[in-house]
Amino acid sequence: MTDKALTADKTAALATLLGAMPETDAIVAAVLAVWPDHAAYLLKSFSARSPALLAATEVASSAARKLMAGNEARFATGYKWTCDQLRDEEIFFHREGRYRLSTFAEAWDEVYSNHDYMAPYVDGLLLSQILWYNHVGTFEMFLDRVLGAATAPFDYLEIGPGHGLMVYLAARSPLSRTLAAWDVSSISLHETRVALDRLGVTKPVALVEVDILKAAAPDRQYDLIVISEVLEHLETPGVALAFLRKALRPEGRIFINVPLNSPSPDHIYLFSTPEELVAMVEAAGFRVVSTEMFATQGRKLAAAIANRISVSTGIIAVPA
Ligand SMILES: C[S@@+](CC[C@H](N)C(=O)[O-])C[C@H]1O[C@@H](n2cnc3c(N)ncnc32)[C@H](O)[C@@H]1O
Repeated sequence: MTDKALTADKTAALATLLGAMPETDAIVAAVLAVWPDHAAYLLKSFSARSPALLAATEVASSAARKLMAGNEARFATGYKWTCDQLRDEEIFFHREGRYRLSTFAEAWDEVYSNHDYMAPYVDGLLLSQILWYNHVGTFEMFLDRVLGAATAPFDYLEIGPGHGLMVYLAARSPLSRTLAAWDVSSISLHETRVALDRLGVTKPVALVEVDILKAAAPDRQYDLIVISEVLEHLETPGVALAFLRKALRPEGRIFINVPLNSPSPDHIYLFSTPEELVAMVEAAGFRVVSTEMFATQGRKLAAAIANRISVSTGIIAVPA
């Protein structure tokens, strides 16, 4: 089979797989329009998903489509650009055994303060939430075992909301009473605000510019705290966890999502194993209730960890 015939074959198989998922199918079509050769990767990513992961994918796609409306090609191009950046970081990581940057100041200069970088990156990361198996894995955990497990009204705090999907879903929950989201980057907070407005969130969400590492002692407590894909961006993630421990009510829960061995231009703290992450969470005064792991492309976990392939690790914890 020629390369072109192979791509056509994978594209057709994807269309069949996504037949009952119109929102996801539309996003995949937009991506393949700018990046046809991505069909084989996507087929593998979707084929590995359980029915629950496919259902969660469609939830994320439905929200993402509203955010993309009229700008599908821009988002798809941003996604391809993001994947290209990450491939370069991966080459460095596997050659050197460390992330390329190690200080917040470096990440600030290269990424957070650089609009030309942030704009396609934020678009790309939104689509990764749908197209990457490991990202969907922890997203489904959040939907079902975190938000879905709430039985009483809750006050919600999220650190680093980025694309805004999680705070949006928390706002949609009839049980959410108050909502706050903090981020160090005004560019990122602006993206979150635009997303919440586009998604029609009417409950007030306090979006506040805060560096979690410099936050003063919390002046109140929350029932549900979410910190997803943020700890690896910090020089001292244990300090952030200790702060969040104080901000969590005695009966509250925290959801922590960290990618292990996941090189990215703004990842500066390397978590290599689930054990070191759990140890840090426990050292901050939490008791881990459950841990779930999802390797890139649904690979086997032990092999992924041994070969330093990215594994998203979701932790639900309570005060110890
Ligand atoms: C990759 S995004 C995470 C987006 C989303 N939560 C997710 O799970 O995909 C990381 C976010 O953390 C924010 N962040 C990085 N360092 C931070 C700090 N010191 N304090 C607060 N937010 C920070 C970034 O600005 C960015 O919005």
